[in-house]
Amino acid sequence: MSSKAPRSNLFQQISKSARAIWEKAAFRPDIAIILGTGLGNLTKRLTKQISISYESIPNFPASTVVSHAGRLVFGVLGGKKVAVMDGRFHYYEGYSLDQVTFPVRVMRKLGAKILIVSNAAGGMNLGYKKGDIVLIEDHINFMGVNPLIGPNDERLGLRFPDMSEPYSKRLISIAEKVAQEKRISVKRGVYIGVSGPNLETRAEYRFLRGLGADVVGMSTVPEVIVGVHAGFEILGLSIVTDLCDPDHLKPVNIEEIIKTANEAGPRLDQIVEGVVHKLPHVRQ
Ligand code: HPA
Repeated sequence: MSSKAPRSNLFQQISKSARAIWEKAAFRPDIAIILGTGLGNLTKRLTKQISISYESIPNFPASTVVSHAGRLVFGVLGGKKVAVMDGRFHYYEGYSLDQVTFPVRVMRKLGAKILIVSNAAGGMNLGYKKGDIVLIEDHINFMGVNPLIGPNDERLGLRFPDMSEPYSKRLISIAEKVAQEKRISVKRGVYIGVSGPNLETRAEYRFLRGLGADVVGMSTVPEVIVGVHAGFEILGLSIVTDLCDPDHLKPVNIEEIIKTANEAGPRLDQIVEGVVHKLPHVRQ
């Protein structure tokens, strides 16, 4: 899909992508999972895997800019059929939000009803530690753009989607239960989405914290907005990869962020697998 693809074609584009996927893998996932930076290992836990590269799916954004895998992996996790996006598209890479969120639409079309999204984020709540897992309770769209701008196709969702509970309270409590059982500590918090690609200044961290956010990152918000529009029940998880205390701010680099995400990955994977396992069988 080129960035100039007319939005009025969106419905047809989604259907075409779904058909092409079904030709390669006759699979109807119940749960869609988007893996954040440094969190790609979850795919190793899937059995009966089928992997499809993004570039082989018509209308998927060209994945040249995606730093890692860039593939959709289907398989069974915790006894459920899942579709995992290994590699996501970011707005800061130059993709339009239509492109960033297109795979979410396709996974809904394939049959998924539950969306689990993870990301690496900066921790502004001073009660957080590096490596903490935060269950996202709510978000603030501070990206300056919205993926739903443009004519609305009623077949895809409502013109004015309700945002009173974008992150499912039911899924948050299941995640907390799993975390408790596995003795993994989790926090709750508000995620604020920014465009990036630069990290924030001290003044910006102070400001964003003052807005009521606990973690800040450059993804997730567009996918969740489209996820709500498309009728997904959503669980969001952040890994705190750097501490954003404006009064003691140290320079961070992306390698450190990826390393911290990698280290926290196995704990996050256990929670995601545990949640999926606990869910009742999903019927369309
Ligand atoms: N700011 C924005 N995005 C991020 C950060 C941050 O501090 N850490 C990881 N992703």
